Amino acid sequence: MKNFIGSSLFALVALLFTLAIKAPAQQSKSSETGLPWAYGFGAPAAPAAAPGRAGGAAPGAAAAGAAAADAAEPPEDRDKPRSLPSSTAQFSIKQISDNSGPADWFPSDHPQMPDVVAHGRKPDVPACGFCHYPNGKGRPNNAGPAGLPTGYILQQLEDFKDGARKSWDPRKRNTAQMIAIAKGLNDEDKHAAAEYFASMKWTPWVKVVEAETVPKAKFVGGGGGLNMPLDGPEAGTEPLGQRIVEVPASPEDTEPLRNPRSGFIAYVPVGSIKKGEELATKGGGGKTVACAACHGVGLQGSNSSAPSLAGRSPSYLARQILDIQHYTRNGPGGEVMRPVVAKLSEEDILAITAYVASLTP
Ligand code: HEC
Ligand code: HEC
Repeated sequence: MKNFIGSSLFALVALLFTLAIKAPAQQSKSSETGLPWAYGFGAPAAPAAAPGRAGGAAPGAAAAGAAAADAAEPPEDRDKPRSLPSSTAQFSIKQISDNSGPADWFPSDHPQMPDVVAHGRKPDVPACGFCHYPNGKGRPNNAGPAGLPTGYILQQLEDFKDGARKSWDPRKRNTAQMIAIAKGLNDEDKHAAAEYFASMKWTPWVKVVEAETVPKAKFVGGGGGLNMPLDGPEAGTEPLGQRIVEVPASPEDTEPLRNPRSGFIAYVPVGSIKKGEELATKGGGGKTVACAACHGVGLQGSNSSAPSLAGRSPSYLARQILDIQHYTRNGPGGEVMRPVVAKLSEEDILAITAYVASLTP
């Protein structure tokens, strides 16, 4: 693990110096919003503070309370057994939402889970599989640890624990939960979980679709929620505008059933994939550098340097870039990434993540 961080990051820093990033093109920052869609909110945290760039102030704490209004509605019958078409198992909503032993619908889809992934470690550590799913695919409002290098995962857990990885948006409560979990993990569980998630491949999970109008949706759950399409009289469509709307491909499968085979659809602005490709492969005329230099061919990752990005949640990836730009993601790897993303506007970040998410992993 030390190898991964020590030698490979050193090589990456060296590489950065050879990939001279030219002075940024002048661009207006006045329209910067802090990408609320990436953090799981319908509106910016604090419009006046949001334009802060690298080193800028985080949005005001006053906005932190706003998330409480987003509480999810309780499902009707929590004890009734539920099933999924291709699973022989049955679980009630109560079982599915048990964070110390959540439903494992498809045990044959993954290797045997270490105890910490399946059950957590009471009292401080809920089961990793609860938020990230037993197969490590996760949801856009958390993360997909499957297919990441072991050393990278261990370093992230260190960074969460040591205060080097926080969310720039103070309303995002589940990042605070992840930090508390990293602090509560013992060494043995940490390694078991890292090796487990690293042992699985990242496979297609998000379908990226360019669109002008999208289903109306609302973030539920509060504190960095899941974007769920509205149903009943509230349902309908609306213009997408300059944002990414990432919703479950089959809402009921995701919430409340947590079907780990049912992925997401990300609606992105028309033309954004092409624009993102230009930036991610050619650097956009000096704004950034080709991501493949560190993230590997096809952005499939490389065990000795940076993690895979291809086919991962664009909401997740976009908020990581913003966190890195704003120094709230500050681990040794984050520092290597910072110059690469320092000059990107929010529109650039949107386009890059639309492109990266559209790549086949
Ligand atoms: C309560 C939900 C929750 C649980 C339980 C949970 N996590 Fe997380 N995890 C998160 C969230 C949320 C993030 C993303 C934070 C962000 O985007 O700011 C995350 C991110 C991560 C990442 C970073 C992935 C990346 O690509 O950098 C890793 C690694 C991780 N978690 C591992 C674990 C492990 C190991 C466990 C079990 C010991 C666990 N998590 C349990 C919510 C959770
Ligand atoms: C000089 C090497 C380098 C280049 C070039 C580079 N990255 Fe990275 N990137 C890294 C490293 C190292 C990490 C791991 C960060 C950490 O450990 O916190 C990373 C992490 C990331 C993450 C967070 C992944 C996660 O799972 O949380 C994203 C998103 C990302 N890079 C996007 C990009 C994009 C987009 C580009 C091209 C515009 C790019 N990177 C170019 C080195 C690089």
